[in-house]
Amino acid sequence: MHITIIGTGYVGLVTGACFSEMGNHVTCVDVDKSKIENLKKGILPIYEPGLEPLVVNNHKSGLLKFTTDLSAAMEDSDLFFIAVGTPPGEDGSADLQYVLAVASEIGHHLTRYAVIVDKSTVPVGTADKVRNAIQEELTKRKVTVEFDVVSNPEFLKEGAAVGDFMRPDRVVIGTDSLRSEKIMKDLYAPFSRVQDKIVSMGIRDAEMTKYAANSLLATKISFMNEIAFMCEKLGVDVENVRKGIGSDSRIGYSFIYAGCGYGGSCFPKDVQALIRTAGEAGFSPLILEAVEKRNAMQKKRLFEKVISHFGSDLSGLRFGIWGLAFKPGTDDMREAPATVVIDQLINAGATVTAYDPVAMEEAKHTLATHLKNSKLTLADHQYDAIKDADAMLLVTEWKPFRQPDFEAMKRLMARPVIFDGRNQYNPEQLKEEGFHYEGIGR
Ligand code: UDX
Repeated sequence: MHITIIGTGYVGLVTGACFSEMGNHVTCVDVDKSKIENLKKGILPIYEPGLEPLVVNNHKSGLLKFTTDLSAAMEDSDLFFIAVGTPPGEDGSADLQYVLAVASEIGHHLTRYAVIVDKSTVPVGTADKVRNAIQEELTKRKVTVEFDVVSNPEFLKEGAAVGDFMRPDRVVIGTDSLRSEKIMKDLYAPFSRVQDKIVSMGIRDAEMTKYAANSLLATKISFMNEIAFMCEKLGVDVENVRKGIGSDSRIGYSFIYAGCGYGGSCFPKDVQALIRTAGEAGFSPLILEAVEKRNAMQKKRLFEKVISHFGSDLSGLRFGIWGLAFKPGTDDMREAPATVVIDQLINAGATVTAYDPVAMEEAKHTLATHLKNSKLTLADHQYDAIKDADAMLLVTEWKPFRQPDFEAMKRLMARPVIFDGRNQYNPEQLKEEGFHYEGIGR
């Protein structure tokens, strides 16, 4: 098939690379000239394991192309994937201006039947808006061209996106025509055992499915964080509770890890957007609002523990942070708990040294103000980050942090104090090693 993907962000690029890997002719379009030039040279805008070889090899073979010119890319395309950003507006709703601008541009150039796929995460009802925007342009041009709009949400995890795309748990296809449903099914046919995994439904159902999936996962996390809070009050270890409940197959082990809060480009934004959608439908979603509130509180838990140990004035104290990305396997710092705790520590008078195995470049932008004010330093190595530190805060559970050399840590640190935001260490062992240790919910 000939496919055009509009938007070479994380979703668009993974989608384009994986479809080209299956032998399709894919053109990725973006308005950002430097991004496109870099991609042609094999330089990727994001860190995503396994993505670079797919992009480089398929670009070399000619199956994957990059351009800023949508109208040229459209000439021989049968399928258009809209994968541009839907950033939260001021009120938390998804801002659709980029999606609708792309839809208008498609309408402006469309000359023959095509399927337009919403890949970006968009609220229920967006496909209708996309259809209207395209139709408006066709009407202006006084032409009749048939087209279908489809919702095909992505369920990719950052850090595992290529694997998730190639071996999906499910492929949700929301359509309102047999013609477009067949095209979508043919497109996904070569993917690993996909026949049993395609879930066909109405367009609005598919739009809602994406929000419901992410919101349920966020709910599991916030629920567990609330239980963790209670565990602290009651002298219970949430890690044992996690193991105890996870073994029930109806509950499962995934997404029940208590921690210092969820971040990233999806959960915070999608929960907020669904709250807005509920508001528009005329009601207050009790659970979703609580999920969001708990998460905002959770991102402040590490700081609360720090001040209950050291007092509220942290002047003259130094803290070492391990992990800046919102989770391991990515350099993404959007909504990362690390940014919240660093802000809080610095506002309370402390200085901070931080290290992340991958997100150091990203940190230079995200934390620029603190770096400029010399309140924050970035270390080249995890052990450099804790030199002379009054405490170490583990914020992201990267593998190199999981089994550190505690003896060396004790020698390097000014005081042997660890605040473990991801429950990576054994409290008993650390006590024996002579550390003051605090996890989340234990
Ligand atoms: C998520 C969804 O998993 C994916 O299907 C969707 O397409 C996009 O959003 P992602 O944002 O990459 O993916 O991250 P994910 O691995 O889901 O983790 C989200 C956040 O939850 C991270 O900050 C992580 O640290 C946190 N988390 C996860 C917990 O705090 N506890 C858990 O048990 C699991």
